[in-house]
Amino acid sequence: MRSPGFKYIDLFAGIGGFHMAADALGGRCVFASEIDREATRAYEANYGLAPRGDIKVIGASEIPDHDIMFAGFPCQPFSIIGNRLGFADIRGTLFFEISRILEAKRPPMFLLENVKQLYTHDQGKTLRTIVRTLERLGYKVSHAVLNALDYGLPQKRERTLIAGFLNHAVEFSFPGGDGPGRLEDILEPDEDVDPKHFASDMIVRKRKAKHESGSRPGIWHENKSGNVCSYPYSCALRAGASYNYLLVNGIRRLTPREMLRLQGFPDKFRIVCNDSQTRRQVGNAVPVNLVKAVLKEMLLREAKAGRRSGKRTA
Ligand SMILES: C[S@@+](CC[C@H](N)C(=O)[O-])C[C@H]1O[C@@H](n2cnc3c(N)ncnc32)[C@H](O)[C@@H]1O
Repeated sequence: MRSPGFKYIDLFAGIGGFHMAADALGGRCVFASEIDREATRAYEANYGLAPRGDIKVIGASEIPDHDIMFAGFPCQPFSIIGNRLGFADIRGTLFFEISRILEAKRPPMFLLENVKQLYTHDQGKTLRTIVRTLERLGYKVSHAVLNALDYGLPQKRERTLIAGFLNHAVEFSFPGGDGPGRLEDILEPDEDVDPKHFASDMIVRKRKAKHESGSRPGIWHENKSGNVCSYPYSCALRAGASYNYLLVNGIRRLTPREMLRLQGFPDKFRIVCNDSQTRRQVGNAVPVNLVKAVLKEMLLREAKAGRRSGKRTA
């Protein structure tokens, strides 16, 4: 379903995983914020919109009205000092910026994303604080851990998704997906890959001495204890280490384009930063296919309730 004209804001925008998904469903970005200069450069080159910087210094009155807020916010511990509301104080955290803007702008929907570990962070207290804060603002809040593997991508990437609807009584059911995508559709032929991405003979020999792969194509993964395994999909790309951990068929690193594809970014996405910046940005991004599936369901639900675009209930 396309939902022409819905307006959205993209907080902690990175390289725009939310943006890519929302535009494919007919959305229009009216505001983005991202503090990292290189990510901002990539975002502007791809979407023609320059994100504003640090969200902490942007007043809610500077942000246009919108139908949905997206935010893939960094996870931070919440202080238990200043417990004036009966649960942990969120002031000083980046989540506070989300609640501050929701309180002022009251969009009908929001979709937040974070690492899977948010579920268990501080024995679940962090997630509980987030949910209660959002409920106090009048949102019906639903959350789930979803895996990119279930949404057409050959990457095991589990993420916490938190969806909110203003003044709804019933919980949102997150949609299931159509299963994993195929590595064959992601990988570039070895002969087209720049030799700089190939591992040294020594690394290849060491890996092959430890492991015989049953999957071809397969992504080999070495864990912290040095154990090597391989799968017909990639383990989660990470902003820091994935370049060293993951080897295509045990012989070469993933190219930046392959990493983007593993996150669901189409090849029209222009790579304007260097390899290490792009790897970091892709490792931070939200999987486009996953967001698209969830957003599509959210828009359908809101359309059924007849409240989207202009029919604000707040
Ligand atoms: C987990 S990443 C989100 C990535 C994004 N969802 C995507 O698809 O690329 C979090 C982003 O928040 C940005 N960030 C951190 N602090 C910020 C702040 N105070 N204001 C704006 N952006 C910030 C980081 O630079 C990082 O790119």
